[in-house]
Amino acid sequence: SGCEEHTPQEEQPKQKVASSEKKDIKRTETKPFTQELKIPEEISFSKTKKAKFSSQKSLVQIYTDKPTEVLTFRGMLPNPTIRIKRGENFDLEFTNRLPQPTIIHWHGLIVPSVMDGHPKDVIPANKTKHYHYKVDQSAGTFWYHTHPHARTGKEIYHGLSGFYIIEDDEEKRLNLPSGEFDLPLSIQDRRFDENRKLFYKDKEVPQDNNGVLGDVILVNATPFPYKNVKNRKYRLRILNSSSVRTYNLAFDGIEEFALIATDAGLLEAPLMVKNVIVSVAERIDIVIDFKDKRIGDTVTLKNLGFKEVSNLKLHPKYPDFDAKMDIMQFHISEKAEDTSSLPAKLVHIPRMKASEAVRTRTITMEMIAGGLWTLNRKPYDMYRIDERVKLGTTEIWELKNSVHMGHPFHMHGVRFQVLDRSGKIDFPTDKGWKDTVLVMPFETVRIIVKFTMPGLFLYHCHILEHEDQAMMANFFVER
Ligand code: C2O
Ligand code: CU
Ligand code: CU
Repeated sequence: SGCEEHTPQEEQPKQKVASSEKKDIKRTETKPFTQELKIPEEISFSKTKKAKFSSQKSLVQIYTDKPTEVLTFRGMLPNPTIRIKRGENFDLEFTNRLPQPTIIHWHGLIVPSVMDGHPKDVIPANKTKHYHYKVDQSAGTFWYHTHPHARTGKEIYHGLSGFYIIEDDEEKRLNLPSGEFDLPLSIQDRRFDENRKLFYKDKEVPQDNNGVLGDVILVNATPFPYKNVKNRKYRLRILNSSSVRTYNLAFDGIEEFALIATDAGLLEAPLMVKNVIVSVAERIDIVIDFKDKRIGDTVTLKNLGFKEVSNLKLHPKYPDFDAKMDIMQFHISEKAEDTSSLPAKLVHIPRMKASEAVRTRTITMEMIAGGLWTLNRKPYDMYRIDERVKLGTTEIWELKNSVHMGHPFHMHGVRFQVLDRSGKIDFPTDKGWKDTVLVMPFETVRIIVKFTMPGLFLYHCHILEHEDQAMMANFFVER
């Protein structure tokens, strides 16, 4: 099958990229909406029994004029989308062809702790890890990325992430847009120098330790792309795989669209919205209908900006949190019949009640002396167990943000529901299954979570530079 071949590092064409250190970095020029959106190849586990990944340095054509050195799993970007049905076995051999240890994590999947990709399980250079587990959770849009301690930000920034889509029969019966009308969109802000070289932290910008912001938006590793579409319904699976930026997404040319799923699965019913806030690592699935558009029309996906999420003073070189930016365009280019549906009812979500919880734990989000972001004032220690919970029990976790910056809080090995939040902004995404939730500045969010998988798992802020610093902790689910 096509899943077997991968390009080892040695076979990549070699190219010297000019060093851009020390001198002021000249910025790249980007003419938006000139490149067509790249669609990741798919690895379907119904067809493939076993897949192979190897983390490797690769040269890829992000821009058409010059190649960019990136990190990939199979020699190209975007990385493949994993597509698997509930009940199928996931089987993948991962070889680390990077000079440093790393590990893959399956974000949002509820899998045995040894398969989850904890940073203490990193594998050394040129070693292989065999991942195998049965997928047993509802349909949804998930993702994978590497997770070595203190280097996750840099590795994801350079390319090491991809989509992981779970399907099930319940979803299939809904007849939502599928096939070419089901588009994954992974959104990342990045920085390129004049040689199209990606650069991560900028020495002139001390704020980068609080999160790296870029001025070029990549969707599926394509800068400010366009996509030709037909005048019918599409399902868009949107993932924010940026380092720190929160997007407030809306469209020019389409006023309302249907939110149909959040991180870990479908909503009970489509929710018509005009915009949705998506913080790092969150996913939204939406259905957008181009049927009233004419051939030749353009619809633009844009970021409305979102200042409330942070009042950190940022460097004038990079667009701030409230920057309004066009992300990509849809060009309505063909007529098409639409046989897909958007049913008024999607799935049943059993509501977890506060009364089912055996206890409440409080997790604080604070910056301690030395400017370190932490949870409960303790810098991360890979080998320390911060919370012990009992398998099969339900708890309330009260997430208290006492700083002037929002933090997307993520837990491994579970999915949860949002009980309530103290802040004023209403998040439509709070209505569905979550594995990541944005806690706004000075806000308290209460989530309710049932622990169904034993073992050691992480919880952390998903701003990549925060989790790399210290804003991460371990919980242990004991039998
Ligand atoms: Cu995207 Cu620790 O996870
Ligand atoms: Cu995760
Ligand atoms: Cu944070």
